[in-house]
Amino acid sequence: MAMKTLVFVCVLVAAMALAAPMAEAQLGGLIGNLLGLIRIQGTLFCSVDGNMGVNGTATPVFPNALVQLQCGGTVVSSSTTNGSGIFSILLDPLQFLLPALLNNCNLAVKTPLSNCNASLPSVGGLFSSLQLVGSTLIGLLNVTNIIPTGFGFLRA
Ligand SMILES: *[C@@H]1O[C@H](CO)[C@@H](O)[C@H](O)[C@H]1NC(C)=O
Ligand SMILES: *[C@@H]1O[C@H](CO)[C@@H](O)[C@H](O)[C@H]1NC(C)=O
Ligand SMILES: *[C@@H]1O[C@H](CO)[C@@H](O)[C@H](O)[C@H]1NC(C)=O
Ligand SMILES: *[C@@H]1O[C@H](CO)[C@@H](O)[C@H](O)[C@H]1NC(C)=O
Repeated sequence: MAMKTLVFVCVLVAAMALAAPMAEAQLGGLIGNLLGLIRIQGTLFCSVDGNMGVNGTATPVFPNALVQLQCGGTVVSSSTTNGSGIFSILLDPLQFLLPALLNNCNLAVKTPLSNCNASLPSVGGLFSSLQLVGSTLIGLLNVTNIIPTGFGFLRA
């Protein structure tokens, strides 16, 4: 009887050992989804097309510019560039499907370029589509990184 119990316990322990990594992986996936974040980040330059010009890193940045995330023409989020010309938009992955975001959404700069350089146009604005560059793990947070594919100027 005691022998039977011992065998049963051994089988149980072995079964648990086999099942545990699987359960842990599934749990990890689930928690990973809950602790995910989508980050759209980029630098806006004060140039005819919003990109780094011929002068490279010497190109002045475009601070205090309103950058909107538009999906199918609707504004879903926005950010303002800081003193370094950097904007950052954070999204909840449970509310945005990545393929839809990459295919249907773009960035629109609402502040006229003339605000950072009077020689640049005061009408029309900069636009860019989005591109996935990968993900970074910040602690438990899985951050999906998206950047602009490159801005371009569109007349109003
Ligand atoms: C590049 O730098 C030179 C020298 O500082 C300047 O004269 C020129 O206007 C700059 N070009 C652009 C496109 O900013
Ligand atoms: C702008 O934001 C970036 C990213 O958060 C940061 O590294 C940089 O120091 C900020 N610049 C200024 C002038 O606040
Ligand atoms: C302002 O824009 C003009 C036209 O692109 C450019 O030649 C000039 O260098 C810019 N000025 C500054 C201070 O960047
Ligand atoms: C983070 O999320 C991305 C996209 O959902 C996924 O491909 C990647 O494997 C995840 N990384 C980790 C470490 O969980």
